[in-house]
Amino acid sequence: MLRSALLNVMVKAAHKAGRTLKRDFGEVEHLQVSLKGPANFVSAADHRAEEILFTELAAARPGYGFVGEEGGRREGSDQTHTWIVDPLDGTSNFLHGIPHFAISIGLEREGMIVAGLVYNPISDELFTAERGKGAFLNNQRLRVAARKRLGDAVIACGLPHLGRGDLPLGNRELAAVQPKVSGLRRFGAASLDLAFVAAGRFDAYWERALSPWDIAAGLILVREAGGFVTDLDGGDTPWISGDVIAGNEAMHRELLALLKTAAKS
Ligand code: IPD
Ligand code: CA
Ligand code: CA
Repeated sequence: MLRSALLNVMVKAAHKAGRTLKRDFGEVEHLQVSLKGPANFVSAADHRAEEILFTELAAARPGYGFVGEEGGRREGSDQTHTWIVDPLDGTSNFLHGIPHFAISIGLEREGMIVAGLVYNPISDELFTAERGKGAFLNNQRLRVAARKRLGDAVIACGLPHLGRGDLPLGNRELAAVQPKVSGLRRFGAASLDLAFVAAGRFDAYWERALSPWDIAAGLILVREAGGFVTDLDGGDTPWISGDVIAGNEAMHRELLALLKTAAKS
């Protein structure tokens, strides 16, 4: 599969940062960890990976802006392009030795996400997408699942926990969805949750109170795999509102309706 020059830049940066994350994961028990807030950890691995990604992307596309979870916004001379980066999505999994985490790189051009990459360096699964050019897992083209009935669906979600999210609302949403579906999953990395929807592994996914770097790359993976991604009011910029729902057309519609009733109740 011939990747574009733009995707090659993103893949090269992700592979380089992925090598240090993989090494750090092997030594996770020795890693310096600090608390960003209740149950919200960051490690030296997050910072190291973000610096590598910034350096690689800035070298290949001088002038592009850069927004990273750890280092914040770095302005570029080119105001039309901004990288939106999560160097380690799934930090809690990483710190618990659970090999389900990823590097997430999205590219925004004039308010639109035009390219995305989600890479799990342990499974070596590389998800990529570019506007109008489809979504891929390594070299295999991706399509969202075709299931249409919630009763047949396995759905991923994010759940509120200590210091994070609206527990009563989360419980109402769970109570509305759980009895209607064949399975619920809480895997702990939003970017991979969206990538798994793009790959047809999850039939749908929803989560609230996310950050732009959790959603940007995954959003274009799902859309280029033929899926629908909006916020929980149906708006098409979930990376700005932070609330996201994704799935094929039927799943997106059915799940959105269920969540709206839960939000009102
Ligand atoms: C977190 C993960 C998690 C989601 C949290 C995010 P982080 O990202 O994506 O699945 O529920 O809201 O903050 O902190 O591991 O980069
Ligand atoms: Ca994240
Ligand atoms: Ca992170």
